[in-house]
Amino acid sequence: MTIFPHKKTSHLETAATPQLPPIAAGSAVAHYLHFRRDPFGFWLALGRTAAVTRLQLPLGWAFWVVSDEAWVDRILAQQSYTYLRSRYLTDTKRRGTPPNLTQTRDWKQWLWKRRLMQPPFHKERLAAFGETIVQETNTLIADWGERGHLADVGDEFRTLTIRLITKLLYAGSEGDAHIFRQTLDAYMDFGFRRATSLIHWPLWLPLPAHRRVARLRQQAEEAAWRLVLARMEGEETAEPHDLLDMLLAIFDPEAKEGEEAFTLEQIIHHLGDLTVAGYETTALGLTWLFYFVSTHPEVEARLRDEVETVLQGRPPTAADVSRLPYLNMVILETLRLRPPVFVMLREADKADDFGGYHVPAGTQIFLNVAALHRDPRYWATPEAFNPDHFTAEAKAQRPHGAFTPFSIGPRKCLGDGLALLEMNLIVPLILQRYQLSYSGTQPLRVKPGVRLQAEPLPMRIERK
Ligand code: HEM
Repeated sequence: MTIFPHKKTSHLETAATPQLPPIAAGSAVAHYLHFRRDPFGFWLALGRTAAVTRLQLPLGWAFWVVSDEAWVDRILAQQSYTYLRSRYLTDTKRRGTPPNLTQTRDWKQWLWKRRLMQPPFHKERLAAFGETIVQETNTLIADWGERGHLADVGDEFRTLTIRLITKLLYAGSEGDAHIFRQTLDAYMDFGFRRATSLIHWPLWLPLPAHRRVARLRQQAEEAAWRLVLARMEGEETAEPHDLLDMLLAIFDPEAKEGEEAFTLEQIIHHLGDLTVAGYETTALGLTWLFYFVSTHPEVEARLRDEVETVLQGRPPTAADVSRLPYLNMVILETLRLRPPVFVMLREADKADDFGGYHVPAGTQIFLNVAALHRDPRYWATPEAFNPDHFTAEAKAQRPHGAFTPFSIGPRKCLGDGLALLEMNLIVPLILQRYQLSYSGTQPLRVKPGVRLQAEPLPMRIERK
């Protein structure tokens, strides 16, 4: 018996000759204005109208939008070599930077970069990060009890996750973390304004916004160069300890794209790439999680009970993660309802026929993760925060592409293990010491942005 009562007939089952999907109802201007005002709401609304649709925006911008598990599986997993990262995201020539891992479009080049970056993210290596995560969290939360009220817990999580990435991957200081955060926050704001603007002024034009991000970028690059050069002058160790050691082990000043080596410039840009990919995403996951937990007393009670029973008051370690199944369900449910990366963009490198539709080469396709995560065919209560969506039974009944907070297929998130480890350790540490109560008067709103940002999250904090 299925637990999904709303199963509807998929358009995939009714396809005749390949055709183009329907154009989304509404004018180009109305879509554009909705998208600018409330991107998350925009994608959710679009996903409700059709599984596959075409979106026309002003100035001739045209995209497909897929909000269907089978399409997502095809694009990200089955035919990932046909559907590449869109050239809108990978055009680094214009920015004058070497292409890092996330911005690499070509499969061969991507593969060698991914192989070089993978080792610190292996499961055994991640376990060694546990102690640092616990220490840094304890330092951050030490004075929460005295403060009694935090105007924005999300801001605290940003401070924590940037410190963690900086420290775990390249042993940067708190000062470095602060500089990187300033730059990344400014870049994210700038990126959203640029993505939602119809006119893209060339970045070399000396507009105030361009000058500001260029200045911050320079400051961050200088900090990264300092870190790299200091490490090169330090003693050599037999065993590489972090990502920076590993990257320096393959350093070659003459390295060319595609060789088994990186120049210093490439090393700097890869450190930046991982920091961008891993800092805000994890902070947002934690922010939404504490909002949901503090507004769902029955979930909080069950979670506290599990943490107390399993840990008996001691700090968690990486080995405890598998012993806290309900915590894991709460984390996944948060990433379902509020996926930090709520939309992805791909481009068809070759033509493809699938599900009754013909995809011409060059088609730009948004994968609508926001809507996918609320498809009533796969979620018993799609709009509600309900960790039981992740019981073993429910998971076994869902197809592969229905839940993709970290993407799926070969280009899935490199840092998913690290992000989950951080969340699995940080949440119990906070619950063991404090009671967090949401002190806002309205439901927490989504703030327009490239990622699924939250408005400030105010919390009353009491010691346990
Ligand atoms: C909750 C936290 C996180 C979420 C929700 C998340 C989500 C994602 C998603 C959806 C993608 C695919 C994007 C696309 O293809 O368009 C991705 C890629 C990536 N993520 Fe994460 N991520 C998280 C944390 C991290 C962390 C902690 C790191 C590393 C420190 C990281 C590193 C990367 C990298 C390097 C890629 C690109 C992989 C490639 O192109 O091969 N992420 N992430």
